[in-house]
Amino acid sequence: MEILQDHEQIISMPRIGDKAPDFKAVTTQGDINFPSDYKGEWVILFSHPADFTPVCTSEFITFAHLEDKFDKANCKLVGLSIDGLYSHIAWLRTIKEKIEFNGMKNIEVKFPLIEDIAMKVAKKYGMIQPDESKTQAVRAVFFIDPKSMIRAIIYYPLSLGRNFDEIYRALIAMQTSDEFEVATPADWNPGDDVIISPAGSCGIAEERMTSTDELNCKDWFFCTKPLGKKEVLDKILKKPKLLVR
Ligand code: BEZ
Repeated sequence: MEILQDHEQIISMPRIGDKAPDFKAVTTQGDINFPSDYKGEWVILFSHPADFTPVCTSEFITFAHLEDKFDKANCKLVGLSIDGLYSHIAWLRTIKEKIEFNGMKNIEVKFPLIEDIAMKVAKKYGMIQPDESKTQAVRAVFFIDPKSMIRAIIYYPLSLGRNFDEIYRALIAMQTSDEFEVATPADWNPGDDVIISPAGSCGIAEERMTSTDELNCKDWFFCTKPLGKKEVLDKILKKPKLLVR
């Protein structure tokens, strides 16, 4: 989607259901081709306003601390800000050497951080929202699935650090929807009941209301069923590698 702003600048805004726009970029982990390098796995592409800023630093420490947890859910992380490569490298070194946040310290950021000084990627992904800042990206989070489709987008303003429990919860909920063909209700977490698709005919509506099986129908259009936490996590999370002697 392209939006014409008052200042006549065309801003592209990818939407849920779109294929993730392609780009090549230089990162702190070498060059990447996006999204093709990530085909077959989930990837979270996220932007932050600037290196060497406090909210961003707290977010990077938290994301890097959780990187293994996301990897176990078959999800890679890719960051971006409108800064150059050497600034990124210097900032990540400072984070590792000097900064402790919420008990996390000596944190090495191993996922790629894109340099986007020319704002090419930021503009393609609608990360520049000029009434918030014309030169810094907002805090955008794009969830991209193994087929390179955009599945969810969250935007936060510059002053608000993200909630990483929610980012992880949303990832697991979408993977659960894909694997078990269900939807997930408000505040769902693995182990909670899931929602089955609404009845598409009067006959099915009647069947649902009179059924005695495991369905719990609050009304004909709102039926849930149990789905165990172990069943969900066994299906979604990578299996631990066995040590072979
Ligand atoms: C920060 O990360 O601390 C920050 C960045 C830009 C504006 C406000 C806060």
